[in-house]
Amino acid sequence: MTTLNINGKPHQIDLPADTPLLWALRDNLGLTGTKFGCGMALCGACTVHLDGEPVRACITPVSAATGKKIVTIEAIDQDPTGKKVQQAWLAMGVPQCGYCQSGQVMAATALLKQKPKPTDADIDAAMSGNICRCGTYPRIRAAIKQAAGITEVKP
Ligand code: FES
Ligand code: FES
Repeated sequence: MTTLNINGKPHQIDLPADTPLLWALRDNLGLTGTKFGCGMALCGACTVHLDGEPVRACITPVSAATGKKIVTIEAIDQDPTGKKVQQAWLAMGVPQCGYCQSGQVMAATALLKQKPKPTDADIDAAMSGNICRCGTYPRIRAAIKQAAGITEVKP
């Protein structure tokens, strides 16, 4: 039995240590806001925070998450930066199909917590691993800038 600290609460799970964290979140704990895309750390759909760092839950074993603070999209609005990001996402109407957007919000929030006023290069570096098949990249960039308080014209 392992205890995972998820969104500020302890959750007990009984899974092999090498089980991907994404499986534990979605299949065992019902936290389905975090999405499965590629399963190989190539798309970013499964991004969560481990002690504030964005990680790909599809390749993070449960053993690596034990003892750390795990935050998922379900609780990102409890973080002041995460709340700003979500509000900017809504204001900019970022999502299209929405499938990639949990991961995008998690990556953007981690970026703004580290760099409150990111440059375009900072945004590129932080977000390049989060793929959007709907091509919402211009709105993602605009929403990050809005959340950062950087003036940007709506695309
Ligand atoms: S599902 Fe994890 S990076 Fe694609
Ligand atoms: S909004 Fe459809 S994949 Fe990004």
